Amino acid sequence: MTPAQATCLSDALVIGYAILEQGGPAAIAVECTIGLLEQSGLFNAGEGANRQLDGVQRMDASIMEGAHLKAGAIASIEGILHPITAARLVMEATNHVLLAGPPATAFAQYYKLEPLSKGRALRRSAGRSPASMAVAQTMELYRAMVKSQRMEKDQHGTVGAVALDRAGTVAAGASTGGVDSMLPGRVGDSPLIGCGVYADNQSGAVSMTGIGEGIIRLVLAKTMCDRLATGASPTVAARQVLRLLVSRIKGSAGALVLSPDGRFAIRHVTPYMAAGWWNGIGSPKVRGQFS
Ligand code: GLY
Repeated sequence: MTPAQATCLSDALVIGYAILEQGGPAAIAVECTIGLLEQSGLFNAGEGANRQLDGVQRMDASIMEGAHLKAGAIASIEGILHPITAARLVMEATNHVLLAGPPATAFAQYYKLEPLSKGRALRRSAGRSPASMAVAQTMELYRAMVKSQRMEKDQHGTVGAVALDRAGTVAAGASTGGVDSMLPGRVGDSPLIGCGVYADNQSGAVSMTGIGEGIIRLVLAKTMCDRLATGASPTVAARQVLRLLVSRIKGSAGALVLSPDGRFAIRHVTPYMAAGWWNGIGSPKVRGQFS
């Protein structure tokens, strides 16, 4: 985690907590926390979203609140700075859960959501041939660098948040530009309710990061909530389900897990996971690794 990322995470926690402290809803705290991370360009979401192999940024996001099990999600949205806000609008302004592709982008534009910056748009329109030898060599070089630095290729920085408000409602959200080397049109776990995100006041809230294909196949967020509902602590639920992910399908992920009584866990089976928490006491706690 870079110092800039640490500062940004800390700022995001302060913004989210301020909303909760003023009695605001958990879903809005989650949206605003994620919104700051999206606009920072420091993570793989919003301004910093990965590109698919045709050079286009297609982003996914979702949000869910646990009082009424309301949820909204956006898949393969383009050119929008805050996919998490588009997801919240799907939740609040429609009777749907998930909008995808160009109509999702049109939906966000109808609500006049801020576009990605011109710089990003220009770089995108410059275009590249994914089949060109130069791109293939660059990708090969990048893989070698990653290996030599003992970094994980999946350290790609999907952003997420979970929160508990004064009314006792939990919420969870996630926003991402996907993974490395994606086919155009690939959609990950983040916009799939139950996979990347889940929230239920009767069990808890979970937001996932990591390689979406494995997270989808084991429906990880809902699986963790189900463990919470049977009495497992957030730490135990996260540990058991992440172990399952590794043992069954060699998956790679990290989780933010929150129970309705305020206990929480941040756990990962990747070498790193930049994350933090704050309950308003002292200063926000931000780290790059959690045991
Ligand atoms: N977890 C983000 C993705 O796989 O797209």
